[in-house]
Amino acid sequence: MIYLDNAATSRPKPPEVLQAMTDFMNNVCANSGRSGHRLAIQASRIVYEARESVARIFNVADPLRVIFTMNATESLNLAISGALRSGDHVITSSMEHNSVMRPLRALESRGVEVTVVQCSEQGFLDPEDVEKAIKPDTRMIVLNHGSNVVGSLALVAEIGHLARERGLLLTLDTAQTAGAYPIDVQEIEVDLLAFTGHKSLCGPPGTGGLYIREGVQLEALKWGGTGSRSDEEYQPDFLPDKYESGTLNLVGIAGLGAGVEYVMREGVDNIRKRESDLTQRLIDGLLDIHGVKVYGCLDADRQIGVVSLNIDGMSPSEVGLRLDDEYQILCRVGLHCAPAVHRTVGTFPDGTVRFGLGTFTTEDEIDAAIEAVRDLAEKRKL
Ligand SMILES: Cc1ncc(COP(=O)(O)O)c(C=O)c1O
Repeated sequence: MIYLDNAATSRPKPPEVLQAMTDFMNNVCANSGRSGHRLAIQASRIVYEARESVARIFNVADPLRVIFTMNATESLNLAISGALRSGDHVITSSMEHNSVMRPLRALESRGVEVTVVQCSEQGFLDPEDVEKAIKPDTRMIVLNHGSNVVGSLALVAEIGHLARERGLLLTLDTAQTAGAYPIDVQEIEVDLLAFTGHKSLCGPPGTGGLYIREGVQLEALKWGGTGSRSDEEYQPDFLPDKYESGTLNLVGIAGLGAGVEYVMREGVDNIRKRESDLTQRLIDGLLDIHGVKVYGCLDADRQIGVVSLNIDGMSPSEVGLRLDDEYQILCRVGLHCAPAVHRTVGTFPDGTVRFGLGTFTTEDEIDAAIEAVRDLAEKRKL
């Protein structure tokens, strides 16, 4: 079996992730920040160490400014709904996942104005178009760092600089890039960075988080017990407790911490280089097949390891089903929760066949995927 659905969630997880989770359940299995006994303290230490690891991979100076959530979607909801109020204007792009689009559309009915800046067919946003969309009441720019459909990388340093100059918040969706592409929050001047734990950071599902730059104030999405200031009925105002009500996904966070440590040991630059080489190999191999269309910029230097294609005369779902049944190759087909992106790249409403590369993808797997697509393209009935 060849797993090329890492853009949905990474597989396999490094052995140390499974070990950390098993160790937590077997040897700790107590609540963090709640009790004072030795196991509770051990649980708190594991959570804090995972927070430190995440802070280190993104070059965040203060680990307490990293909030743990269930996934990138919850982090984006916290960033977007927590910051925007009726009368505010927000700018986004036509390359966004529904994790950004849906919270924004929901806020429109509460008086927030949304501008969607059109990207090119290759999936790129022109910073000048973002600048032109700024109005006196613009409060935030929210962008996908790496497309989950065609892999295109946004020019975040330029847009971060623009946002800072104009006094706007920059929220970045790094669901596809965290762990696969170097991210430094000091360099890109990002205010709110949403990440997921279960993709290239190699953690389990049910993990993710939000980095909140110092000075940025957000309304919480939920209120409740934190184990701190238990004498008060009002939510603590300090981080991370302000945004972390209720028992955390402790076993998941133990796994996430181990995943992030794994990624840092391998080196994000090395992972990026490996995936980039494999991405170009995949693109070039697919381009060589008659009847196959590959979407995006076709340049691995400007994209991550996400490659979308279609075979003339076959629906994406037929291709996906046959790749699974006949070649044991697992991928994702359809719209990938991003209808705006497909309208941008010209693949709405049928979508694409998507190969998502991961840390463990090999050259042999890429070659097998190319040959399987070639075989399907040659066998198709026209
Ligand atoms: C670009 C992008 N944003 C957000 C998400 C949502 O991530 P999560 O599943 O962690 O909520 C995904 C997931 O596929 C994604 O690709």
